[in-house]
Amino acid sequence: MKEIELKKIIENMTVEEKAFELLQLSPAFYGEDGSTETGPAMSLGIQPEDAYQSNSVLNYFGAERVLKLREDHYKNNKHKIPMMMMADIIHGYATIMPIPLAMGCSFDPELVKQCYHNTAVEASYGGVDLTFAPMVDLVRDARWGRVIESTGEDKFLNGEMAKAMVEGLQGDGVENEGTICACVKHFAAYGAVESGREYNYVDMSERFLREYYLPGYKAGLDAGAEMVMTSFNSIAGVPSTGNKWLLRDVLRGEWGFDGVTISDWGSAMSLCSHGVAEDRREAARLCMEAGLDIEMCTPGYIKWLKDLVESGDLDEKLIDEAVLRVLKLKNKLGLFENPMRFTNVEKEQKYFRCDEFLEDARRMVCASSVLLKNEDNILPLSEKSGKVALIGPYVDCERFVGTWAKVGMPCRNVTVREAFEGKGNYVFAKGSHRLGAENSLEAVMLKYEIDDSDREKLLKQAVKTAKKADTVVMFIGEHYDQSGEAHAHMEIKIPEVQAELLRRVYEVNQNVVVVLFNGRPLDLREISQKSKAILDVWMPGTSAANAIYDMLTGKEEPTGRLSMTFPYHVGQCPIYYNKIRTCHTYNPDPTSRFTSKYSDMPTMPLYSFGEGMGYTTFEYSDVTIEPTLKRGGKIKASVTIKNTGDRRGTEVIQMYIYDHFASVARPSRELKGFKKLTLDAGEERVVEFEIDEEMLKYWNIDMKFEADAGKFTVYIGHDSKTNNSAEFELV
Ligand code: BGC
Repeated sequence: MKEIELKKIIENMTVEEKAFELLQLSPAFYGEDGSTETGPAMSLGIQPEDAYQSNSVLNYFGAERVLKLREDHYKNNKHKIPMMMMADIIHGYATIMPIPLAMGCSFDPELVKQCYHNTAVEASYGGVDLTFAPMVDLVRDARWGRVIESTGEDKFLNGEMAKAMVEGLQGDGVENEGTICACVKHFAAYGAVESGREYNYVDMSERFLREYYLPGYKAGLDAGAEMVMTSFNSIAGVPSTGNKWLLRDVLRGEWGFDGVTISDWGSAMSLCSHGVAEDRREAARLCMEAGLDIEMCTPGYIKWLKDLVESGDLDEKLIDEAVLRVLKLKNKLGLFENPMRFTNVEKEQKYFRCDEFLEDARRMVCASSVLLKNEDNILPLSEKSGKVALIGPYVDCERFVGTWAKVGMPCRNVTVREAFEGKGNYVFAKGSHRLGAENSLEAVMLKYEIDDSDREKLLKQAVKTAKKADTVVMFIGEHYDQSGEAHAHMEIKIPEVQAELLRRVYEVNQNVVVVLFNGRPLDLREISQKSKAILDVWMPGTSAANAIYDMLTGKEEPTGRLSMTFPYHVGQCPIYYNKIRTCHTYNPDPTSRFTSKYSDMPTMPLYSFGEGMGYTTFEYSDVTIEPTLKRGGKIKASVTIKNTGDRRGTEVIQMYIYDHFASVARPSRELKGFKKLTLDAGEERVVEFEIDEEMLKYWNIDMKFEADAGKFTVYIGHDSKTNNSAEFELV
């Protein structure tokens, strides 16, 4: 449809109708058969048939149901505006991949792109037009439950991942089959909520916001994401959803974004709970003036826009602009020509968890799992491992998918026991439940029934099994729902009942390997003391068990590297590798007193950003670099890397840059490039990185994004701690 025709539709709409076109409803409004449900509609104070005038619905799945709903909606919509189906699909639709935080660890944008393409295919045939992903909030505090949804603590890595995700979802354009729209969220800086406490506020300087927190969203938009979701938090006292500076000046003005904005669930009317709007009428006005297009699940616009326009408190032009943006998106999706879009029962069945997608998800588990330690090369398991006991609550578990796995969650997955049984000298024991009585407070929220009556019995069985084995592999970790929205934690440890299991097993057998399931960095001090190897598989998704079998037995190598720092203790949070230089900069010498550190614990984390190992070893040469970079020019930095082990293996070569001197305090180093490379035993390769002026820019004392002339150090090595470096100068 031509833009002029879209404008014609708007001309014929009343303000009330326009307001409905800016409302997203929850699935509770629609029954199984696509008819509207009276209850929820009434509770919002709207008529059931009004649901057909609304813009979109979220999280309503399944081709058959969606076809019916789309049909009914279209039939009953006064202006024949098709509806949009939106959903929370952040790491797979039916084929669930490892959580986004894990995918960040893959350092493999190509594979990420492939997995998100698969997701788009599954979801689009299932009736979805748009997903609320990628979530690109920069995360530095493991107490915040939603770190699970982000790709980590580094803006460069997040940017590369955001790009890959958007490209995977949207392909060459959302008019094409097998694509869905991407929506970058939560704009902005939701990852910086104070103390990692959910729904808390953010207060930071504009410099920090621009320097560290905004680039991830920008990268997603540069890759073509069609929508932006605002965040629950305020920034310096202004709630994002009603933040004119953020939405109009930065997003639309500076960045030129002309797509659609949507609030988070209820965040438009939450301007009242923030205390910046006296009532819902005022909240609606502030949001519309700030540039918020779609209101998710609250009735502010539908109740108040008409009144605001009629009383002269709001310019109707703003509403028209918002509706036009929304109609343009629907048009781009091809909905005016085909209101069913790609919803298709047969194709949904054909692609639903098809072999090809399961295989890509299995590859992603291997690419994103991080081997944190491997003493005595206890892994991979082999003849020398003898009898192996597989112990823990995740041995027989069918669910190791992360948060928001709506369609894939109820599907049955191969269990660890099934993946191993009959393939070697393996014995099994459950050992414990995932949660114990100590978790009763949280269990209520997780809808998890705690039954501790067999605690001792399970422990004893596990100890007996461990005693008779030569090697023990423990499958332990967080409950799959312990990380995610509304799951901020003050402790970041595995549940006590499982820690107790580890202790009891360790007493009788010290050849312990831990396979860790988690949605956030954890305090691994005890686990690290009581194990020879830790393989962090995160919440690995649908294809986990087979991938874990492959990695533990050495058929595959875990090749992930940490995308988020694992603190030594929760007291270090927030913690991240690119810390800002301070007056008494940290000095690792334990006798140095007056330096920036904690006196009662190490200042370094237990596992740093970029860390992780495989089953072979690599040697790096010194860094070679051209010593002078001219403005506007390019130079090369390189290393030769050699696989010095006796098997083929993969390394993530990481490049960091340190700015010696600037007009404001800068980080001790920042990731500026990475390459994931697989080399045969004995093979060596020269790896080159290009460096240009753009990579050296920062928000300077005058709030200009520029690079200063002067000295820089380039580090190229295995992780963020590398000292393998060389200097150059920008002239
Ligand atoms: C979350 C969003 C999500 C939305 C819709 C909110 O509670 O913060 O990330 O997209 O719900 O389900």
